[in-house]
Amino acid sequence: MIKQLDKGLYLLNQNNYGQRIFEGEIPLKKGMSYNAYVILDDKTCLLDTADVSVLDEFIDNLKTCLNGKLLDYFVIHHLEPDHTAGIVEVLKLFPNVTVYISSLGYALLKQFFPEADIKNLVRVNEGDKLNLGHHELTFVNAPMVHWPEVVVSYDAYIKTLFSADAFGSFTVINNVDSSEYEDQDELLYEERRYYTNIVGKYGDQVQALLKKAQTLDIKRFAPLHGPIHTSRIPTCLKYYDLWSKYEKEEDGVLIVYCSIYGHSVKAYDYINDKLTKMNVEHDAVNLNHDDFSIALAKSFIYDRIILIAPTFNMGLFPLMRSYLLVMQDHNVRNKTFALIENGSWAPQAKSLMAKLINTFKNCQTIPTTLTIKSSLKKEDLPILDSICEELVKGNSDKINKKTSNLHHFRCKLCGFILEADKLDSSFKCPLCGKDSSFFEMID
Ligand SMILES: Cc1cc2nc3c(=O)[nH]c(=O)nc-3n(C[C@H](O)[C@H](O)[C@H](O)COP(=O)(O)O)c2cc1C
Ligand SMILES: [Fe+2]
Ligand SMILES: [Fe+2]
Repeated sequence: MIKQLDKGLYLLNQNNYGQRIFEGEIPLKKGMSYNAYVILDDKTCLLDTADVSVLDEFIDNLKTCLNGKLLDYFVIHHLEPDHTAGIVEVLKLFPNVTVYISSLGYALLKQFFPEADIKNLVRVNEGDKLNLGHHELTFVNAPMVHWPEVVVSYDAYIKTLFSADAFGSFTVINNVDSSEYEDQDELLYEERRYYTNIVGKYGDQVQALLKKAQTLDIKRFAPLHGPIHTSRIPTCLKYYDLWSKYEKEEDGVLIVYCSIYGHSVKAYDYINDKLTKMNVEHDAVNLNHDDFSIALAKSFIYDRIILIAPTFNMGLFPLMRSYLLVMQDHNVRNKTFALIENGSWAPQAKSLMAKLINTFKNCQTIPTTLTIKSSLKKEDLPILDSICEELVKGNSDKINKKTSNLHHFRCKLCGFILEADKLDSSFKCPLCGKDSSFFEMID
């Protein structure tokens, strides 16, 4: 699809409706859009290309849009393959085109496309300009949003920021402007899932870009994925600011749980009811069903998270371990966690969750925890009540900044875990009877 957005500005939109997975691991519900832009002025200019899956459509759209005109300039903001599959073809069609690209971008281009033949190359730096007649692009470095070579550009004539991957979403374009999407909640959900999973690790760099954007008079964001933003710009900025500062969107609690046989789910059911009765906003991620992209995105909404997981082969059930590694990997910060574990002979999910959380920035756990021994019992329920109350009402003097100064010692034979500040040499394993020499410190 080609759509004129403004005087001389055209969107070349390529939707891949059949795409089910993005970047090899992130499920898509509706497919994915790959956007490029053309400016027709005294000079002609192409901004970026598209993914290999929509390459033919992109080339057709480009030719239709140019309608026989030669291409004078070719701006490449970002070298990730989902936007660069058309580079070699464009250079073949327009061998004398002048390419504007950052120095690092050019180095990556030569890595990806050693065969690319660029006759006219301009390496752009922060503040450089490209005049097309009425339109003039000013380049702004956006390193690590979310690759190192990224530049964005601002067209003062039509007050448009070509924002590369920033302000994108996991969706196809059915309405060009984001304000026209009927289901605004669903759009925000896909914008959040896109931001947190693709850009989420680089909050500090996004903050730097937002500060630069504040100095510009912007009436349109033109991203490389998803719809264009005009009247929704304040919404986009509000959420990007929160997400990149790792601040909560809403007061409330997220419950992240998983189970092998189903007993841990009973704890989730109870907490779910309890929070409802307490009138506390809450949501849940069932790691047995929901994928990690959803778990990560929902974890950006709330600053209080209850984790429920079974012990598995003397370790943490892999789904919970993977979730916490995804959180660690995306630099998630500013959360308070409550820990609930399950185990039948030597529960240790709790200490392993705490160990991972201790590596997160500005995250803490509340002191009250629950160890479920196989199945949830009546006597466990008041502890779940306390966990909900402590987490919701906040009890900051009690909250563990570091989870514990205690250490955990594991019996190498049976897996029994002893929690103590030190291991007494006279200690004997209550499960298998082995002496302290059989114990190893695990944290
Ligand atoms: C393959 C496997 C390994 C397990 N390893 C441990 C273990 O090392 N320590 C432990 O206490 N329980 C272990 N368990 C038991 C479960 O953690 C325990 O039965 C728990 O109650 C399961 O909770 P669920 O019903 O919510 O799945 C293991 C279970 C399975 C299937
Ligand atoms: Fe990218
Ligand atoms: Fe992208």
